[in-house]
Amino acid sequence: METMRKFKPEDLTPRQRHHYILGTVNPRPICFASTLDQQGRPNLAPYSFFNVFSSTPPILIFSVNTRRDGSNKDTLSNAAATGEVVINLVNYPMARQMAICGVEYDTGINEFKKGGFTPIPSEVVKPFRVKESPVQFECKVREIKSLSDKPGAANLIIAEALLVHMHEDIFSPEDTIDPLKIDMVGRLGNFNYCHANANSVFAIKQPPADIAIGFDNLPEHLLTSSILTGHYLAMLAGVTQLPSESEIDQLSKNDKVGEFLHKMQEERDPLPMLHKEVLYLLKNKKVTDAWSILLLAEREKLV
Ligand SMILES: Cc1cc2nc3c(=O)[nH]c(=O)nc-3n(C[C@H](O)[C@H](O)[C@H](O)COP(=O)(O)O)c2cc1C
Repeated sequence: METMRKFKPEDLTPRQRHHYILGTVNPRPICFASTLDQQGRPNLAPYSFFNVFSSTPPILIFSVNTRRDGSNKDTLSNAAATGEVVINLVNYPMARQMAICGVEYDTGINEFKKGGFTPIPSEVVKPFRVKESPVQFECKVREIKSLSDKPGAANLIIAEALLVHMHEDIFSPEDTIDPLKIDMVGRLGNFNYCHANANSVFAIKQPPADIAIGFDNLPEHLLTSSILTGHYLAMLAGVTQLPSESEIDQLSKNDKVGEFLHKMQEERDPLPMLHKEVLYLLKNKKVTDAWSILLLAEREKLV
């Protein structure tokens, strides 16, 4: 990414600004907001300017733009009038039906019916929950914050979850939430979405309390390597301690390692060979071995 484009938000057209921001700040989870109007009529609409901002207490925030003509969307009017919303999360099996509920139906039209969803009663607030949704938050509206008075302006709806419902099917045998079972949908730019399937989900085990050594403790020859990218260097920088002398000794007794070091000695520039070996080990998730071979090469004064 050598060449960067640079914009001042005010120099873009509203359409460009909207597209550039939505096309880049993603994937965004989808808040499927269920509200009631003052006459008790149900309303259901998706909002992807959405996230959770606290777990204690559980605070979920989503943002409702005013319509192009400056009028309020139904969700905003209802949340302001009743102080209640049920935030349903959207998974892959629901996605197509959810998109129908994003159509700008007239006030009073019941999007549960338009999208083919099943309304079920909530326990501590009046709006319905969406039965098909894997997670439903019954919320009270804490605050609504308007960010501007121009048409299209965003209004943050700050909601606190009072009661949470989670479908039994999304839990792993260890009682954690299984990302593949919940299969959440994310909103990308334009009409694009993604979801959490076996090809897209990956784990990075880097617990915040385990103090990693960091890039600043990597040898210089690694930082300037054209073979090891940031992704692989992060595997080396993410450890809390280097292998012990006895772990290095153990590896040095391996015949193949001895042969490898011998070949390194014969190279005019042994670094690419070492970096390729480290890359191979890291690709196979052998981080301790990768560090050991690096330290062994250093000990043998090969680098
Ligand atoms: C996936 C998805 C995400 C959306 N996110 C937003 C959003 O964050 N803010 C917004 O104002 N409109 C958003 N919309 C559009 C609203 O859902 C749409 O204007 C809807 O008609 C509003 O319904 P309501 O008037 O019943 O609240 C989104 C639509 C879809 C399909």
